[in-house]
Amino acid sequence: MERPAAPAAHQAAEIRLTITSPERMRELGRRLAELLRAGDLVMLSGELGAGKTTLTRGLGEGLGVRGAITSPTFVIARVHPSLGDGPPLVHVDAYRLAGGLDEMEDLDLDVSLPDSVIVVEWGEGKVEELTEDRLQVVIHRAVGDTTDEVRHVTLTGLGERWSGAGLETLTG
Ligand SMILES: Nc1ncnc2c1ncn2[C@@H]1O[C@H](COP(=O)(O)OP(=O)(O)OP(=O)(O)O)[C@@H](O)[C@H]1O
Ligand SMILES: [Mg+2]
Repeated sequence: MERPAAPAAHQAAEIRLTITSPERMRELGRRLAELLRAGDLVMLSGELGAGKTTLTRGLGEGLGVRGAITSPTFVIARVHPSLGDGPPLVHVDAYRLAGGLDEMEDLDLDVSLPDSVIVVEWGEGKVEELTEDRLQVVIHRAVGDTTDEVRHVTLTGLGERWSGAGLETLTG
């Protein structure tokens, strides 16, 4: 099926953080969760073992959802319903999605997005067209650092949603 090219979303906000342990990465997730609401798409990038799933664990804790956030072996997307009255967290790991866009379509993320927070690992080139508004999180291992627990995290908010959304509060 032919798709129209997604219009380029403008960058509304960007912050950079240095995260020094897995526990602090979870804490970042818990704090970021306070800014999230139904309809939000969060794309997590970074090499294997960067800390994407660890961050998602914190998001799940912050959103107060049911079920352990894991790195699924066979499951590509897992829905974690809210334990309260908040939105469910849909956790997608697109790493094994060799089929690309067609397999992605089978997940019906466009159907669940309005009522969910969707977090996607390895989603580059696969989920951008779901919405113009999205939060891109890039996690880098520190190069040449003496401790291998240091991560540099860049959060970029794209589209109207993220202008004035309080992303800068995460730096405090
Ligand atoms: N600052 C840090 N933040 C996050 N994880 C860290 C940090 N320091 C060390 N780690 C460790 O790095 C690993 C990160 O694993 P995680 O599954 O979160 O990565 P991932 O980016 O999801 O990898 P994959 O691409 O395989 O899904 C964990 O073992 C975690 O304990
Ligand atoms: Mg992972």
